[in-house]
Amino acid sequence: MRILVLGAAAGGGLPQWNCGCRNCRDARDGRIPTLTQSSLAVSPDGERWAVLNASPDIRAQLQALPDLHPRNLRGSPVEAVLLTNGDIDHIAGLLTLREKTSFTLHATAGILDVLAANRIFDALDPAHVSRSPVPLDAPFELVAGLTAELFAVPGKVPLFLEEDGQEPQTDLLGEQTVGVELSAGGRRACYVPGCAAVTPELRERLGRADIVFFDGTVWDDEEMRATGTGRKTGRRMGHLPIGGQDGSIAALAGIAARKVFIHINNTNPILQPDSLQRAYVEGEGWSVAQDGQGYSL
Ligand code: MLT
Ligand code: MN
Ligand code: ZN
Repeated sequence: MRILVLGAAAGGGLPQWNCGCRNCRDARDGRIPTLTQSSLAVSPDGERWAVLNASPDIRAQLQALPDLHPRNLRGSPVEAVLLTNGDIDHIAGLLTLREKTSFTLHATAGILDVLAANRIFDALDPAHVSRSPVPLDAPFELVAGLTAELFAVPGKVPLFLEEDGQEPQTDLLGEQTVGVELSAGGRRACYVPGCAAVTPELRERLGRADIVFFDGTVWDDEEMRATGTGRKTGRRMGHLPIGGQDGSIAALAGIAARKVFIHINNTNPILQPDSLQRAYVEGEGWSVAQDGQGYSL
């Protein structure tokens, strides 16, 4: 199995258009790498590819990686797109994938309902793009030779569907937020870019994988407030922080899989190569995803 990191950042990217925080300034000035938004590409053979989440940056992401370039006059090696939730950073790129090339769009019925409720996604001509509802916990063939299975992880409805003035439930288990387990050639990978809590079932599933790409949105729950960039906590956004006694490093300590943080918010101190937080993450056996990185399993 081949895995390419199309985008390692959370929604907004690094730098984010309206942000002058230290990380965004350093990325703008070339001191740390820029990152595009949340997406992986996966292939069983290097020929047929699936894209996991269609970020607003997908045009540049596909351009940056020759494996994903067209092989003929019209067409793409991307045969499937799979969504893990209905957030803007995971669906807006679908609009770039219009232009009458066929692929299959896989997501839970709950996520497909979000698309169906917005007519702008009718730009994806149903004659070319079939929408395939995927039940949870049921393996299916994502592209020939690559099996995928969706599983519920604690999360919330997309930000743009939150009810005005109401606190959303942030640890809903259902079809709104899922992780994906991929298998090919006896190897397993899990991709969980958004996760509010690690349940025992989730820990067990991730423990069976060879590699895990996991929600690295914030280091600290209060990071947005601490950096002066916002008031929401990580948990309010449906993201478990990395650090602390009840963070993801502690929750996933001891699992055998190779562990990679992805969906990293531009405020996160692990983006600074010389930060204490980066040293801690690496000392605990995790790495920090970068755009364009490739993994062969
Ligand atoms: C998130 O991961 O929390 C969302 O992408 C937020 C957003 O839609 O901006
Ligand atoms: Mn996001
Ligand atoms: Zn910033």
